[in-house]
Amino acid sequence: MKVLILPDSAAATERAAGIVAAFLASEAKPVLGLATGETMRPLYARLVAMWAAGQVDFVPVTTFNLDEYVGVPADHPASFAAFMRANLFDHVTINPARINLLAGDAPDPDAEALRYEEAITAAGGIGLQVLGIGRNGHVAFNEPTSSLASRTRVKTLTEATRRANAAAFAPDPVPRFAITLGIGTILAAKRCLLIATGQSKADAVARMIEGPLGADCPATALQMHRQTTVVLDEEAASNLRLRDYYETVHPAGAEARLP
Ligand code: GLP
Repeated sequence: MKVLILPDSAAATERAAGIVAAFLASEAKPVLGLATGETMRPLYARLVAMWAAGQVDFVPVTTFNLDEYVGVPADHPASFAAFMRANLFDHVTINPARINLLAGDAPDPDAEALRYEEAITAAGGIGLQVLGIGRNGHVAFNEPTSSLASRTRVKTLTEATRRANAAAFAPDPVPRFAITLGIGTILAAKRCLLIATGQSKADAVARMIEGPLGADCPATALQMHRQTTVVLDEEAASNLRLRDYYETVHPAGAEARLP
C-alpha cells in the first residue's frame, strides 16, 4: 500500500484529484469506479473545477458506482444516483450511456447484482476504483464479516452504518439493505485509491493499513491488492503506528524517489 499523508483535508483532496486526473489522461477508454459519501464531495468538486479549466475530460470515461440502497429509485433524493448527479454528473460533459449505476429499485436485486458484475467485465474491468472507508472499516457497503472474496450482491446494513447515513433519509428510516460491489470485485480493479479524512476515520484507517487481515475490518482486504494508494489527512493518519515511515517514504504525500 502506498500511504500518502497530507497536512489537511484540502491538500488530501487535491492530491487524490490529481491521481484521478492522471489516470483519466493515461487511458483512451478509462473505466473509473466511483464512491459516494461526505469524503467524496470535495473530491468531485475539485474534479468539476479541473474539468471547467480544461484539465480533465470525462467524455471517454465509463463509470461504475459502488453501491445503492435496495428499494430506492434513482430519482429519490437520498439515492447514490442523485448524489452522483448533484456532485459530479450534472456538472461535466459525460456520456450518460457510459454511466453505470446499480438500480436500487430493480424487481430482483440479486439479478441486478449479477447484471452489474457482467457489465463491469464487459467494460474490461475497473481501471481505477475510488473508495472511502466507513468508521467500522467497511468499504462500499461490505460490512464487517463480509467475505473477502465476495462479488456484487445484497448486504444487510449495520445499525452503525444506518445511523451514519440517517441525515440523508430523515425523517424516514435508512433502508436495511443495499446492493454493493463485493470485496473480490473491488480487489479485481487494476488500481484502488482510498481517501479518508478526519479524526473519525483514524481507527478504521490504522486497522486497514496496519491491522491483521480479516473480515472484521473488510478494508484490510486492500492489503492483498498490489496497487492501492491511500490518501489521508493528518487526522485520519493519527493512529498509524508507522506514520514516521510513511512520511519518510512520501514526504507531504510526494512520490517516492531513489536518491
Ligand atoms: C457509505 C458508503 C461508502 C463510504 C462510507 C463513508 O456507507 N457506502 O462508500 O465510503 O459510507 O462515508 P463518508 O465519506 O460519508 O464518511
